[in-house]
Amino acid sequence: MKIAVYPGSFDPITYGHLDIIERATLIFDKVIVAVCVNPNKKPLFSMEERMKMIAQECAHLPNVEIKCFRGLLSDFVQRENAQVIIRGLRAISDFENEFQMALVNRKLNPNVETLFLMAHPRYSYLSSSVVKEIASLGGKVTDFVSEQVALQLREKLWDSSQLAVTF
Ligand code: PNS
Repeated sequence: MKIAVYPGSFDPITYGHLDIIERATLIFDKVIVAVCVNPNKKPLFSMEERMKMIAQECAHLPNVEIKCFRGLLSDFVQRENAQVIIRGLRAISDFENEFQMALVNRKLNPNVETLFLMAHPRYSYLSSSVVKEIASLGGKVTDFVSEQVALQLREKLWDSSQLAVTF
């Protein structure tokens, strides 16, 4: 069984992530969307909220599992009996960091391969950070995330008083 891990922060999941997940499910028997517990980042959404949003967005994809991990990605991949890490590449600017990560992961676990999928041009400028910034400034984000995620963003930003402009 060919299993791939698609790791990330997913804070929150965007249409760019979903495009990569959907394409990966056509290549692999199982795709594990792995939400990273990163002590260096302060996410807007809790782990539980992020996993729930991913589950909502991936409800139509039977071969997707959603998990969280802390520690090394290469160890998580090994524990899950996966062979491949999936990463999306949006622009040249992504390359350097992704190249380094792929080489580090290969060094840590030579059995793990990293596979890059080019982002759809429609989403090549998109990131969770950009979406959060637009939402916090009162902009419309439904071209970038689903209605449900946009609603949760709005609620979260209201809750945390991070909303700069009234919707
Ligand atoms: O969505 P992101 O924030 O670009 O995802 C980054 C992520 C989670 C893939 C990366 O930070 C990661 O792999 N973290 C786990 C820690 C690890 O294994 N580090 C060594 C490889 S660089």
